Amino acid sequence: MKRLCVTHFPLLMLLSLFRDVTPQVNPGVCRHPLGMSGGQIQDEDISASSQWSESTAARYGRLDSEEGDGAWCPRTTIEPGSLKEFLQVDLRSLHFITLVGTHGRHAGGIGNEFAQMYIIKYSRDGSRWISWRNRQGKQVIDGNRNAYDIVLKDLEPPLIARFIRFMPVSDHSMSVCMRVELYGCEWLDGLVSYNAPAGEQMSLEGEPVHLNDSVYDGAVISSMTEGLGQLTDGMCGSDDFTQSDVYNVWPGYDYVGWTNESFADGYVEIMFEFDRARNFTTMKVHCNNMFTRNVKTFRQVTCYFRSEADWEAKPLSFSPMPDDANPGARFVTVSLANHMASAIKCHFYFADTWMMFSEITFQSDTAMYNTTLAPPKTGGGPPTSTQPGDDPTHKVDDSNTRILIGCLVAIIFILIAIIVIILWRQVWQKMLEKASRRMLDDELTVSLSLQSEVFTYTQNNPSPSTAPGGEHESSSTYERIFPLGPDYQEPSRLIRKLPEFAEEAALTSTAGTATASKASTAPVAQDGVPHYAEADIVNLQGVTGGNTYAGPALTMDLLSGKDVAVDEFPRKLLTFKEKLGEGQFGEVHLCEAEGMQEFTNRDFSFDITDNQTVLVAVKMLRADANKNARNDFLKEIKIMSRLKDPNIIRLLAVCIGSDPFCMITEYMENGDLNQFLCRHEPEGLLALIGNVPTVSYSNLCYMATQIASGMRYLSSLNFVHRDLATRNCLVGKNYTIKIADFGMSRNLYSGDYYRIQGRAVLPIRWMSWESILLGKFTTASDVWAFGVTLWETLTFCKEQPYSQLTDEQVIENTGEFFRDQQRQIYLPQPSQCPESVYKIMLCCWRRNSKERPSFQEIYQALLESQV
Ligand SMILES: *[C@@H]1O[C@H](CO)[C@@H](O)[C@H](O)[C@H]1NC(C)=O
Ligand SMILES: *[C@@H]1O[C@H](CO)[C@@H](O)[C@H](O)[C@H]1NC(C)=O
Ligand SMILES: *[C@@H]1O[C@H](CO)[C@@H](O)[C@H](O)[C@H]1NC(C)=O
Ligand SMILES: *[C@@H]1O[C@H](CO)[C@@H](O)[C@H](O)[C@H]1NC(C)=O
Repeated sequence: MKRLCVTHFPLLMLLSLFRDVTPQVNPGVCRHPLGMSGGQIQDEDISASSQWSESTAARYGRLDSEEGDGAWCPRTTIEPGSLKEFLQVDLRSLHFITLVGTHGRHAGGIGNEFAQMYIIKYSRDGSRWISWRNRQGKQVIDGNRNAYDIVLKDLEPPLIARFIRFMPVSDHSMSVCMRVELYGCEWLDGLVSYNAPAGEQMSLEGEPVHLNDSVYDGAVISSMTEGLGQLTDGMCGSDDFTQSDVYNVWPGYDYVGWTNESFADGYVEIMFEFDRARNFTTMKVHCNNMFTRNVKTFRQVTCYFRSEADWEAKPLSFSPMPDDANPGARFVTVSLANHMASAIKCHFYFADTWMMFSEITFQSDTAMYNTTLAPPKTGGGPPTSTQPGDDPTHKVDDSNTRILIGCLVAIIFILIAIIVIILWRQVWQKMLEKASRRMLDDELTVSLSLQSEVFTYTQNNPSPSTAPGGEHESSSTYERIFPLGPDYQEPSRLIRKLPEFAEEAALTSTAGTATASKASTAPVAQDGVPHYAEADIVNLQGVTGGNTYAGPALTMDLLSGKDVAVDEFPRKLLTFKEKLGEGQFGEVHLCEAEGMQEFTNRDFSFDITDNQTVLVAVKMLRADANKNARNDFLKEIKIMSRLKDPNIIRLLAVCIGSDPFCMITEYMENGDLNQFLCRHEPEGLLALIGNVPTVSYSNLCYMATQIASGMRYLSSLNFVHRDLATRNCLVGKNYTIKIADFGMSRNLYSGDYYRIQGRAVLPIRWMSWESILLGKFTTASDVWAFGVTLWETLTFCKEQPYSQLTDEQVIENTGEFFRDQQRQIYLPQPSQCPESVYKIMLCCWRRNSKERPSFQEIYQALLESQV
């Protein structure tokens, strides 16, 4: 897994207030607008291939600005396949650029020109131009779709350049106008290029691991020259190089690596060229150290320095401590002892067969990266220059004191402002992270013009010139675009890669019943890719509050009422005991029923002797329920009446002759499995001492097997339960289990459901990713829920699944399942649980629903694991 090299903890931020430093550029923070919209980039630094008119000259190509005729427009229309028009920005020094924004020409509604697509070219020296490509090698960036919305695009990988060209492209002849902004920060490493032998390919158990520098922007023949690439992209490789591939490109993607087989001298030479002579303090090399795979950090490095034309005779050598204990990737810091140089050549000596680097950074002069918000600029002159309340009667002698006080006040103000900013920033960032993660949108498209404060904010600094009067004037504007991270960019692209998806998206799910008809179609966006945001909210809840099973095509004749194979029960034989739960139109009661045996004779073995009362659950529709609720209730009866399995709660009888309508189902004396297990402990010494009731492992397994068996039956009828969990399993004598459906109606379990917009409640901790994101409920999503139920069972329901995550984080985690970049969190292996059973769980949580086992298979596997 790839991660940012520099994490920014709040603590670090606080520290960095006082030491505004971090050893290297952090792509997550380096997202400042570089001055097209703010004006820091001068008009003369903006140029273009041509202009339509003086009022659409290059200098009007500033994002969010309406000057001139509202944008830069080239003289001619953009033709397919032609790449001659461009808008160029000179940043005057090298910058690390992580994000670009484009905007069409709106001009108060008159303009309607924009670039649908564009290419970025960049140059560090003004002569060699390089086309930017994303990590998959795609060059063309999708731009605007209308003239008024700003579209931001993450540059992944980021680029390092002084000159940037935006080149509109089109698949048909069209007029294009553009306004642009660049986001990033200054490139303080000063590194212009590194030259190194090309990265090699490792063969690991027959599988190739490509350790080439896949984003190198120079020439690659047998060696790499004149470019920058993965060693400077600000992203570190993970400890296990075979896994490090957050971009889904190929294993080993994050690393550049070499084997000693190819280097007879025992070292790899890398040469670094800088923009000017610099006074170097350190070099940090991020190395893999997975010695189990014969990868180690270098044994020794020898660096040569060149300040003017010549290489210094005396090199500098450094040998890091060999580390055969910790396989973690790490930064090795090499002191460069304040050598002045404009080029450095280092020989990295192999310590093992392989050497792999993912980042190399340089620290020189006093240049330090900002980790936090920029300190407020102190407007014009020194803070003391315009003290208000200057009293002419107080003369020169106390002016020093006043100056001092003024200074202090100004400093206090600045500090307060900074603290406020930090608090703000944290709150915002939290909100943003949520917002951004929820935004599983097709593109990272942000409409700033709609005042979407979610992605930018303006910070007004107190202007010392008005302090200490208290009136804050916005003297400088500071905007920062928050990191959304590379992983939020284009899920649709990822989604398209999944073969299952293409088909599935087109099909409708099998979840559609009359009560859940909204769930029946996977929402399909314009481009055929379903979106999270478009997933309809599914209401699983039946009229009396429990979930309702979803069944296949319940035809209307089924609903006509004539085939209800359940008998009417005399209401008076029910004795109310306890309310189990309630829903919008009814309640679920626990009752005792007399004479139930008459109703249960037929194909059914209810273990009761004559005249004994039995416990039943009675779902009761309130008399004042509306017609729809009544229909739903009858449908539920139809569905329930079809279910006859020893491990499924059965409908015993109904009372639909008169109001209130009732549905009488079995109930089991030991209550639900969740409470049952909570009261029990695993067998063991502890339980023995505490004298608590226990359940043996084999009985746990026995119960789980019954759940699987009941679900096997449900799925054989193509019924989808949609809320399988221990709270919905009832326990009878001798650990018998029957699956029920009242969990959702019960207050006791309200914490297990997530309420959406006050309408639907969803058991998100049990739901598969596709149920949450796409509203798809299928047998395969029941299998997922079974995995969670099994987990609950083996942990004795001592905690909620993902108890350490909030509901929002659970949904975020769902997004990780969807993106499948190995960042999803799985429920851990319960301590009681043998490997084989945990494997079953993991199979239930496979991303691809088709790869999940069937209930029959689960049933078999559990049977086998019992012996
Ligand atoms: C750090 O912040 C200062 C003040 O805003 C700014 O001038 C400077 O360019 C920033 N440095 C970098 C590397 O972004
Ligand atoms: C790196 O290796 C991969 C896999 O062989 C290849 O597709 C890619 O083109 C290579 N990239 C470069 C820059 O050599
Ligand atoms: C480099 O910087 C250090 C510390 O700032 C200073 O002591 C040293 O003289 C500088 N070296 C040169 C060659 O300027
Ligand atoms: C490469 O390194 C391994 C492990 O240190 C060593 O056994 C081998 O002899 C080296 N090969 C060459 C060609 O130096």
